[in-house]
Amino acid sequence: MSETQLRVRVHELTEVGQGGQAGCVRILDLRAEEGSDLPPFEAGAHIDIVAREGLVRQYSLLNAPSECHRYVVAIALDATSRGGSKHFHDWVEPDDVLTISAPRCHFHLNEDSPYTVLIAGGIGVTPVWSMAQRLLALGKPFEFHYGARARSQAALLTEIEATLGAAGVRFEARFEDNGGARLNLTDIFEAAPEGAHFYACGPSGMLDAYIAAGEARGVDYVHYERFSGVEEAATEGGFEVELARTGGCYEVPSGLTILEALKAHGINVPHSCAEGICGACECGVLSGIPDHRDSVLTDAEKAANTTMMVCCSGSRSPKLVLDL
Ligand code: FES
Repeated sequence: MSETQLRVRVHELTEVGQGGQAGCVRILDLRAEEGSDLPPFEAGAHIDIVAREGLVRQYSLLNAPSECHRYVVAIALDATSRGGSKHFHDWVEPDDVLTISAPRCHFHLNEDSPYTVLIAGGIGVTPVWSMAQRLLALGKPFEFHYGARARSQAALLTEIEATLGAAGVRFEARFEDNGGARLNLTDIFEAAPEGAHFYACGPSGMLDAYIAAGEARGVDYVHYERFSGVEEAATEGGFEVELARTGGCYEVPSGLTILEALKAHGINVPHSCAEGICGACECGVLSGIPDHRDSVLTDAEKAANTTMMVCCSGSRSPKLVLDL
């Protein structure tokens, strides 16, 4: 969990799909307890929500960034969840007070792009829908593709269809049940105009196919956000970490991440997901070469080696000097 914590009340709770069944989605409208405005956010941002002590989950904000009075998140009940989504489905009720972080964003929307293609898979629709609302507000041209297992499990579908239909924005929805076809990512890339920026959020398999289709097409602007880390955390150890601001130099032994090794010395780096997807543990790198294992930084950011996620990344050099 990052250092800035906020308390919000569940103003409204709605459910899509069959309550208690995998795939059911709960949409939480969160507002400041005293009714004041919340810190601003950009489209693509997410917040941490504390389910209970020691259980923190990240959820993308799905509402329009122009809405200062609320954060809206959608939580899909996932049979494979480590407890986060189940907690929010079983225990959270309207009027409950939750502890959350301020919004963070590593899935930035380029608002100057001449054309934007938005692609959502399942509950990955949340940051993508926020981006769509931002593009509508800016009057920028875009198209929206939404794939889900079943129409009945497609969160926000009615709102998206109605809003984009009224605005004359091209919208495609595909559902896999009843023999339906998946989104054809190759066709989407081929049909888009030159210079378009692409954004996708969804399950790993869909994102892998999306990245491959973008590479095959030679597209430069392929942006995405993952739900879970794709690489194992670096726990090989065998290097030192020096903390430039607070002083001290610490051995990272085999079996521990940098985050865990520092914690063992009583140094707590703000963190949240601990699997390289949220960006909460980002630290500046003053010297040394990180072994990047996260899904937050772009390839260019990783190559620059000026910042790293200490929850999962290690070191390729005998020593790292961090801006901590
Ligand atoms: S704690 Fe989430 S990226 Fe490190």
